[in-house]
Amino acid sequence: MNKKTIVQSLLIAGSLVLSGTAFAVTPSASMLGNTCAGCHGTNGSSNGPATPSLAGISTEYFIDAMAAYKDGSRPSTIMTRIAKGYSDEEVKVMAPFFAEQKLKSIDQMADAKKATAGKKLHKKYCEKCHEDGGRSSEDDAGILASQMMPYLRNTMADFTSGGREMPKKMKKKVDSLKKSKGDKGMDQLIHYYGSQR
Ligand code: HEC
Ligand code: HEC
Repeated sequence: MNKKTIVQSLLIAGSLVLSGTAFAVTPSASMLGNTCAGCHGTNGSSNGPATPSLAGISTEYFIDAMAAYKDGSRPSTIMTRIAKGYSDEEVKVMAPFFAEQKLKSIDQMADAKKATAGKKLHKKYCEKCHEDGGRSSEDDAGILASQMMPYLRNTMADFTSGGREMPKKMKKKVDSLKKSKGDKGMDQLIHYYGSQR
């Protein structure tokens, strides 16, 4: 067995334990789907509010995120425990799987007025780094477009409290947004991201 095959068998074993479902046709896709799908949804499109979608996530951002969970530098309720169960090699094998998925967004009942205001704020304060409405595949900075709104709220709270380190230049923008628009501005941004389909 080469390394990749070993990793795949490990992941298949893991997915069988976790999901208890029968073998599907494409081992690479099904194994990964099953391992993480319980929380992140089928093929990485989440439908649970506090769990982010992973479909379309950039490989670089994904690998960094898993490393940050593993070493504890990124706060989490559950992911530190999960990430510790995977080697760096396994994470590299998983990354392209999620990057290739197309996000199936769900209707999050975003407020249309807030979303329109948020779109303007996005252009002014966030678009420079979060391109194309915040699609991770375009910029290695995480999925904002169609991302679960409660997850985005939790994440911004982690950034603001300092629990998760904010990139310095992003902090500047977030601070200046807060100064001129207050919490209302951030709420409008989150409705904009959640409104995208
Ligand atoms: C028990 C539920 C659960 C399982 C299983 C799970 N996750 Fe997560 N995941 C979460 C939650 C909840 C978060 C938000 C951070 C937190 O609170 O831990 C998250 C966050 C993430 C993020 C951050 C996404 C971003 O936009 O920054 C990545 C990457 C991730 N998970 C990858 C995985 C992978 C890969 C697997 C399978 C090997 C997996 N997760 C299995 C619940 C889960
Ligand atoms: C100078 C570049 C830059 C700007 C401007 C910027 N960001 Fe970011 N943002 C990043 C980077 C880089 C990351 C990934 C950080 C990490 O991996 O921890 C990120 C991550 C995020 C995340 C976490 C995504 C996830 O899946 O967990 C959110 C939410 C976010 N940014 C929101 C915003 C908002 C809202 C604005 C505008 C007010 C903004 N950012 C402006 C660079 C930027």
